[in-house]
Formats: sequence, C-alpha cells, structure tokens
Amino acid sequence: MKRFQVCTLMLFSCCAWAKQMTDIEALQSAPTRCTYEYAFDMYGAHCGGLRLNKIPSLRAGIEILDFSDNKLQEIHDDTLSSYTSIKFLYLSENQIYSIDDNAFSYLTNLQSLDLSKNVILTLPETIFHLPTLRNLYLHGNPLLHLHLSKMQLSKPIRAPLELLDLSECKLKVLPDWGVLPQLYLYNISHNPLTTIDAQHFSPMCKLSKVDLTGSIDDLQLCDMRMTITWFQIRNVYFLLDDYTRLNSREFENCPKVAPPDNLNITYQECRQLYTKTQNTKSSRRTWLTIGGGLAGFLVGFVLLLYVMHRHNVAQTKKADKETKKIPPDGDKQASAVLLNNAA
Ligand SMILES: *[C@@H]1O[C@H](CO)[C@@H](O)[C@H](O)[C@H]1NC(C)=O
Ligand SMILES: *[C@@H]1O[C@H](CO)[C@@H](O)[C@H](O)[C@H]1NC(C)=O
Repeated sequence: MKRFQVCTLMLFSCCAWAKQMTDIEALQSAPTRCTYEYAFDMYGAHCGGLRLNKIPSLRAGIEILDFSDNKLQEIHDDTLSSYTSIKFLYLSENQIYSIDDNAFSYLTNLQSLDLSKNVILTLPETIFHLPTLRNLYLHGNPLLHLHLSKMQLSKPIRAPLELLDLSECKLKVLPDWGVLPQLYLYNISHNPLTTIDAQHFSPMCKLSKVDLTGSIDDLQLCDMRMTITWFQIRNVYFLLDDYTRLNSREFENCPKVAPPDNLNITYQECRQLYTKTQNTKSSRRTWLTIGGGLAGFLVGFVLLLYVMHRHNVAQTKKADKETKKIPPDGDKQASAVLLNNAA
C-alpha cells in the first residue's frame, strides 16, 4: 500500500515537473507563444489570437496549425514550406491579401484550408491542385470576386474538394470550376448573384446541399427555373431564406423548358470521374489488404518454422540423451538441418 502511495506521489511530482518544463519552454519562446497539443490523434500548434504578423518558427511534424485571428498579410512560398505534414490549416481572420503561387504547394497532406475573413486579391491556381484538399473555406473575402470572375483554371482540378465555402465574397457570377466529382456541400450564400445557371451545377454529381441564402433574391424568378428544376431532379437540397417565391403562381407559370442535353452529359462525365477515383481508391485498399495479409502469413510461417525447429532440436537432444547407444535417426536430423537453414 505504502509503495503504491509513494509511486503515485512520484508520478504527480513528475507530472508537475513536466508541466513546469513546458511552461518554461513556452516562456523561452515568448515572442511566439504558440502552444502545442495532441488533439484527435494529431499534433497541433495553436497560435490563434496572438496578434502576430509573421508565422514564427514552429516545431516540426505539426499536423494542425491554428493561426487564425492574427495580423498576417502575405504568405510567401517559404512561409509554410517546411511544415509539409500539416493537414488542417486555419488562417481565418487575418489580413491576408497576397498569396504567392507556391505558398501551399509543399503541403501535400493538406486536407482542410481555412482562408475565411481576409482580403485576398488573387488565389493561386496551385491550391486547386493540392492532392488531398477536401475542404476549402474562402468565406468573407470581399475582394476575391475581382479575381475569381476572370480566373482561368486548368481543368479538371485535382483537389478532391468535398466542401467549398464561397459565402460573402461579393460574387456576381460564379467561377467556372469544371467537374467537381466529390463536392457535396457548396456554400455560395450572401453573394449578389446576377445570374444562376444549371450548367454550373451539373458537373457536381455528388452535390447534396447548396446554400443560396441571400444570393438569388434579386434574380428574375423565371431565370432560376432551370436550376431549381435541376436541383429537384438530382435531389440537391437548396437553402433559401424564403421559399414563398418558388411556391408562387408566377414561378409556376414560367415557360417550361426541357433541360438541355449537355446538363446530363456533364453530369455523366462527373459520375465517370467519381467512379474512377473510387475504383483507384478501392484497388489501392485491396492491394494494401493483400500486402498486409501476405506479410502476416509470412510472419506466421516463419514463427511456425521456428517453433518446429525448437521442438525438433529438443526432441533430438532428448533422443540423444536417452538412447546414446542407438544410432541417430538420420531422417530426423536431416529435417532438423533443413529447418535450421530455413529459419
Ligand atoms: C454558409 O455560410 C454562411 C455564412 O458564412 C453560414 O452562416 C452558413 O451556416 C453556411 N451554410 C452551411 C450549410 O454550412
Ligand atoms: C437526363 O437525365 C434525366 C434523369 O436521368 C432524364 O429523365 C432525362 O430524360 C435526361 N435528359 C436528356 C435530354 O437526355
């Protein structure tokens, strides 16, 4: 009992000491004051709300970087290039206006990028080709529309985007993304859209929700008809402040037009691309499983050989001891030698 108490006491003082050490460490790096912790099995650096205008030198291997609510203005090619393990990057609520072309290119593990509430002027194309980027938040960038309206992306984009948030970006026209086969949530709310075209949505074949709140209130009802019909055909849930306009007699009386062929064509293109990526994913998984199984089998086999070998050695020894006079069993020894070599 006593020993147990001493043990826990030691453990506690040890913990306190370790904590003190991290405090000292934090003090030593006073200008940065970023803190580090494990969250969701990932190593993260937290630098939010520190009024920093530069990303300080951070520990290697971080997978989460929260640098939101600071005063960062420019992201250069070398600002983040040494933190290639980052998966989640939060840069919202800074004053970012300039992003170099390859500012994120080194982050080949990046899954989520939050650039909300900044004053970004141009978005480098490389972002849209990040191989694992699933979530992109651009919400609240009031100057971005100037760039997006004339942006020419090379298509199809490589990033497997699942969530794209372009709310409150003063967009009048939606940018042309081409096929987005993984996209399921598209937030384009609070933009003064002057037009909405079903062609924009047909290459998003996995789309399940579009937030249009406050974005199409000023559009002519009949101009939206095709898009709304498309959403209905494809079971896309669309959010509006007010659905009464769509239930009006006016909407009902809009001239009925059949969806043009190319809607289905781009939709099918998207489906094919989706199936293709799913197939490569599952075949990769299959190969991993087969590889894993094979490795397991080999380990088991070698273990079995080893056990058999030990058993044989013991048996031979025993036989040797017990019956010294009887000539040795040639067969058994041969197999022991064989197994010996194999193991
Ligand atoms: C879309 O963005 C707005 C404003 O940022 C937010 O309030 C809303 O919850 C978002 N919609 C969805 C469906 O996430
Ligand atoms: C497009 O697809 C829908 C649903 O699969 C179908 O009802 C419609 O007839 C198709 N339109 C054309 C023009 O092929």
